[in-house]
Amino acid sequence: MPSIRFLAAAAGALLFAVAVPASAASSDPLAETVAQGQQLFAKSTFGGAGRTCDSCHVNGGKGPGEAGGHPLPSLENAAAIYPRFSQKAGRVMTLAAQIRHCIQGGLGAQPPAYGSAELVALETYLASLAHGQSLDMGGAPK
Ligand code: HEC
Repeated sequence: MPSIRFLAAAAGALLFAVAVPASAASSDPLAETVAQGQQLFAKSTFGGAGRTCDSCHVNGGKGPGEAGGHPLPSLENAAAIYPRFSQKAGRVMTLAAQIRHCIQGGLGAQPPAYGSAELVALETYLASLAHGQSLDMGGAPK
């Protein structure tokens, strides 16, 4: 029963600090990492100006978002459309690079390092939103 295991892992993750890496004793480390990423997305300011990802990408990134009065696309296919070329940055951005860019610019915080537990959890959460969709490298947000 994967759904029950997932709910148990999600409930378990809520009891622990969000930045704790998946423990070796976990029965479903992947589901636990998704849950940690979801918590970080909703709650963590990363020590910045007080905003969270959810301040702009509302509803866990699942619906259309909003930043400074401008509409933002949902993040439901974000993990399926990276890497993408960014005109603004003048380089190809990976999903991790885009998340770090938002932590720096959107949250006004020092972004966690590549490969850190926090960044991996956010990448894993966004991948869970896009799970089952075809990879559409360079595609458009929904
Ligand atoms: C202050 C508002 C704001 C906050 C807070 C914010 N973002 Fe963003 N995000 C944006 C804007 C604006 C864009 C559009 C592209 C750009 O300007 O970089 C964007 C784009 C993205 C994209 C690319 C979407 C796509 O399909 O191209 C991802 C992924 C993303 N944000 C993740 C996050 C995550 C994860 C967090 C929290 C760590 C976060 N954002 C916090 C404003 C924000």
